[in-house]
Amino acid sequence: MGRDTDIIALVGAGKGGHAILEALLRIPGIEVRYVFDADPSAPGIALARKNGIWCRTDGLVDELSADPDVDLIFEVTGKPEVFEALRASKHPNSSLLGNRTGHIRAIAPGTSVPLMRASRWCCTGQLGRPTAA
Ligand SMILES: NC(=O)c1ccc[n+]([C@@H]2O[C@H](COP(=O)([O-])OP(=O)(O)OC[C@H]3O[C@@H](n4cnc5c(N)ncnc54)[C@H](O)[C@@H]3O)[C@@H](O)[C@H]2O)c1
Repeated sequence: MGRDTDIIALVGAGKGGHAILEALLRIPGIEVRYVFDADPSAPGIALARKNGIWCRTDGLVDELSADPDVDLIFEVTGKPEVFEALRASKHPNSSLLGNRTGHIRAIAPGTSVPLMRASRWCCTGQLGRPTAA
């Protein structure tokens, strides 16, 4: 039987990551399992720790290739190379969502092909209107 909880990881816990984490923490049925940031003083790291979320601040994201239960990874560093590294290393079960040159890029489980782009981030955690990839 499927589980009811959606399991999410955040890579990047700066201003945007903090805003997304705040929104996710208010949504029932979501477990934010991991928060990663290369800077231990990033604001989202403090919020994650306050909420008992597992954090890593050495720049590595090994857990994301090892954990088959992560449904969605938000890449919120603003760095295309981080998005591409996650695309290559994430567990195949996980979807990947990130921002690249102002557009959302999404990678579905089991593929490395971008599914869609959306016009903008929205701090409520919802996406802008999808457009063709
Ligand atoms: N500012 C916002 O309100 C907001 C909201 C939603 C999305 N975004 C998007 O989020 C992205 C980042 O913007 P920001 O304003 O949060 O910038 P920011 O500089 O505040 O945060 C980026 C974070 O990524 C971390 N980081 C950089 N390289 C990393 C790496 N290799 N591994 C782990 N962490 C790393 C930095 O330490 C920093 O904490 C942009 O694409 C932006 O469009 C921003």
